[in-house]
Amino acid sequence: MRIVMIGSGYVGLVSGACLADFGHEVICVDKSTEKVEALERGEVPIFEPGLEAIIAHNRASGRLSFSLDLAGPVANADVVFIAVGTPSRRGDGHADLTYVYAAAREIAAAVTGFTVVVTKSTVPVGTGDEIERIFREEFPDKDIAVVSNPEFLREGAAISDFKRPDRIVIGTGDERATELMREVYRPLYLNEAPLYFCERRTSELIKYAANAFLAMKITFINEIADLCENIGADVQKVAKGIGMDKRIGDKFLHAGPGYGGSCFPKDTLALVKTAQDFDSPLRLIETTVMVNDNRKRAMGRKVIAACDGTVRGKKIAVLGLTFKPNTDDMRDAPAITIVQALLDGGADVHVFDPEGMEAAKAVLGPVTYGTNPYEIATDAEAIVVVTEWDEFRALDFRRLKQEMKAPVIVDLRNIYKPEEMAKYGFKHLPIGKRT
Ligand code: UGA
Repeated sequence: MRIVMIGSGYVGLVSGACLADFGHEVICVDKSTEKVEALERGEVPIFEPGLEAIIAHNRASGRLSFSLDLAGPVANADVVFIAVGTPSRRGDGHADLTYVYAAAREIAAAVTGFTVVVTKSTVPVGTGDEIERIFREEFPDKDIAVVSNPEFLREGAAISDFKRPDRIVIGTGDERATELMREVYRPLYLNEAPLYFCERRTSELIKYAANAFLAMKITFINEIADLCENIGADVQKVAKGIGMDKRIGDKFLHAGPGYGGSCFPKDTLALVKTAQDFDSPLRLIETTVMVNDNRKRAMGRKVIAACDGTVRGKKIAVLGLTFKPNTDDMRDAPAITIVQALLDGGADVHVFDPEGMEAAKAVLGPVTYGTNPYEIATDAEAIVVVTEWDEFRALDFRRLKQEMKAPVIVDLRNIYKPEEMAKYGFKHLPIGKRT
């Protein structure tokens, strides 16, 4: 089976590499000369555990290759995935589909025999219909079926999420396309991943509804965390206690500084806009978006409160910048808002992240970039844990206590035990529990 992946960003690269690993012949196409040349040299432009090895292995076996040219690979393909970006449109929050439609037109111009064109990018309901209309009206002699197949992988766990998904959603009413999509995902039957076929519009909405629900679940536990702090309960125990109910489930109930990343903020906003356009407002998700935005600013205030009400002239050490661990992605990371609040309060902010420093430089204000946690903690009046990287779990607290000016830890991810922090003599402020 010959597969072409248009767009070698996060989703395109991971999906392309994993499909090649399953034995398909895959060509990943991208318009960026720099990116394609780097990939051809074996350099992977994103940090994702395990990805580099899979790419290297499949390039060596000849199943995976990269191309700037779209027309050649597409002319010989059975299935072409569109995995280009769908950023938030400036001004109105709708998904910007410019790249999707441009890719669709280029693909249609290039296809020869029957070809399945699959949207893997997250696209609003009706995008598949619009692509089909473009094909029908502008390329009437081409034989193309348009399928929706959203991706549910998480950054940092992308390879295992792709290879062992909870489900694969495929939206199509076309029989030939159904057969070809079964063929694409046949290797995953071994992992017992269910293929869930439905109408294309339903499939497009499943992706948004899933992300919105997860964002809402996180926001729910974050609000419960605030209540815990005021009422004298422990959010981690509440999460565990409700999570044991199978109807609720124990995943995505970690209270923190608010969700960030390239998906939840963008997709919740786009879904809210779509729902408003169809006069069917999603009040729960509108509120989720608002509560999450406010929360990031509230985390800045929490740090200031921990420093006796002011950070002016104080050195504050921020541990972890990326929107979650095991990625170098800073898109919509809570750290951006938190650091800004500290800078606005007059703090001298020092930061460290194991993988996100380069990306952080483009989005953070005037901060000092350190090389390890101890360096930035020296003379600091508070450490703020924003991202729960494993390497922050077992720091040498005796040493930190000696080197800091004031032993304060604001633990926005609950990675430390309050009893232990008390033992080391720290003023420890976790999320969702009184100390
Ligand atoms: C998310 C979804 O989880 C994927 O299923 C989906 O495919 C992807 O978006 C996408 O649409 O492409 P991702 O953004 O990579 O994946 O990361 P998550 O692990 O979902 O985390 C998102 C944010 O929520 C992070 O800022 C994380 O720290 C936060 N979070 C997550 C919490 O605060 N608490 C939790 O319990 C879980």
